[in-house]
Amino acid sequence: MSDKQQVAAALAQALPEMDIKEIEAKIERPKDSNNGDYAFPTFFLAKTLHKAPQMIASELVEKVDQDGFEKVIVAGPYINFFLDKAQVGAKILQNILADPAHYGELDLGHQANVTIDYSSPNIAKPMGVGHLRSTMIGEAVARILEKVNYNLIRIDYLGDWGTQFGKMMAAYKMWGDEPEIQKGLEEDPIDTLVKLYVRINTEAEEHPEYTEAGRDWFAKLEHGDEEAWEMWNRFRSLSLERFNRVYDMLDVHFDSYNGEAFSAQKMEEPIQLLKDKNLLEQSRGAQIVSLDHYNLPPLLIIKSNGTTTYITRDLATALYRKRMYGFAKSIYVVGTDQDTYFRQLKLALKDMGFNWWDQIEHVSFGLMNLNGKKMSTRKGNVVSLEDVLNDSIDLARKQIEEKNPDLENADEVAKQVGVGAVIFHDLKNYRRNAVNFKLEDVVKFEGETGPYVQYAHARAESILRKGGIRDFSNVDLTKAGAEAWELISFLGQYSEAIKRAALNYDPSVVAKYTLELAKKFNQYYAHTRILEEDEAQPARLAVTQAVSNVLKSALDLLDIKAPDEM
Ligand code: ARG
Repeated sequence: MSDKQQVAAALAQALPEMDIKEIEAKIERPKDSNNGDYAFPTFFLAKTLHKAPQMIASELVEKVDQDGFEKVIVAGPYINFFLDKAQVGAKILQNILADPAHYGELDLGHQANVTIDYSSPNIAKPMGVGHLRSTMIGEAVARILEKVNYNLIRIDYLGDWGTQFGKMMAAYKMWGDEPEIQKGLEEDPIDTLVKLYVRINTEAEEHPEYTEAGRDWFAKLEHGDEEAWEMWNRFRSLSLERFNRVYDMLDVHFDSYNGEAFSAQKMEEPIQLLKDKNLLEQSRGAQIVSLDHYNLPPLLIIKSNGTTTYITRDLATALYRKRMYGFAKSIYVVGTDQDTYFRQLKLALKDMGFNWWDQIEHVSFGLMNLNGKKMSTRKGNVVSLEDVLNDSIDLARKQIEEKNPDLENADEVAKQVGVGAVIFHDLKNYRRNAVNFKLEDVVKFEGETGPYVQYAHARAESILRKGGIRDFSNVDLTKAGAEAWELISFLGQYSEAIKRAALNYDPSVVAKYTLELAKKFNQYYAHTRILEEDEAQPARLAVTQAVSNVLKSALDLLDIKAPDEM
């Protein structure tokens, strides 16, 4: 029972003719805590009872069940409820300590399947910052939805199909024999492939025939040419190998790597459906689907040269996922630059007659600017994501060496702090906002950063090591004292934060919760001698343990580790 439900239950005694849910809906939270924790206004009863609200309030208060409250008093037309903080607080602590791993869980999903398409980088191109954002946001959204009891299917929809593949092949055929490239392919195959791709893009500006050659090779691939498929396979596994290095650093794992190539083999169904519904139109040799009636640009389904497009593959993908996973929601974590695209995709599915079209959720996000530079992947002025993460780890290591030179597993902790800092920075603001990324601001132990939150957790753990108690089952949790109330009450709001985050696919709610919790704990720590050896010490340690547990749990929802020492 939440506090509010407890207030509603107390009022229900006095208002037998009213539904308890209706009562609950009327309950307010006073702005000034001097007016109690909850207030019940009586204005709305004046009409039916033919009495002044003040009168109603003083009559009602006599009948209210006061059990479990410090006091219940009348203030003009309001009844004000003051919680028995010691009792309420003890209950919250007990809930956390009894089962820390599951604290905060809710059942919104009833185990329904949700597919989440995230990261989804393109083979033969370096993974861009957009893909990094997609990976971090997608992983956090997945973890948050799991916490509210959905069953998640994580899909890395690799961009392993399309003209860029043709270009790679053309480049490889032209320059693959050059000694430097031969050597590069042995020493650093992925970088070399990327260089080949960048080179053909740059040189194609003066040699349009290179673009032509790329198109030809792609057509070969579409028609099952053996040499083309062999190259495809090789490029794909080399690229995936590299992506996996980033995924390993982030501790992200997918259930499926079925990408565009997989869907490209399943095009007949959507195309046939579009034909059957008379939705396909000829337009200058190409076949399109008009979305004029939605005021949206048309979809290009089949190009004039006969090849299919990104959106045709996405139509096939959506049908496949619905059939394969029977999803209740199908999430795509992709940048805001594809807002229109996903509206097109959804409305095309609607026109095709699929009533599940609005189960498709585009979870969009804004740009990330790295050190003021916009990221570009086509011309080679690329910042490698591994470099970003490694720089962050190095900076974290430097700071840890200063703060805690004797730390034993310093390398491991530096990794957790460095990577966590990047993730936290990405997630702390609403995802559709642009992110400015400056390493020095990201890896700071002060301010609104990941390391700040991790440090609060490590501090709690260090206090607990000194305190020596780990089993709180026999501790009188009501003894924590008034100065712990705000902190404990905030611990009690964890599942509300999770719910809001889940409903809006918004990890920033959880990130902000961790910041606030860390701040409240640091204030508590500054004003309270937790380790003072008096009769309330075990209760204060219990508070500390609960904070540590909830911080760790919330960080885990964001895919951030919580080292015990740093
Ligand atoms: N590979 C795409 C890109 O880099 C993202 C794919 C998103 N998923 C999808 N089903 N369209 O922009």
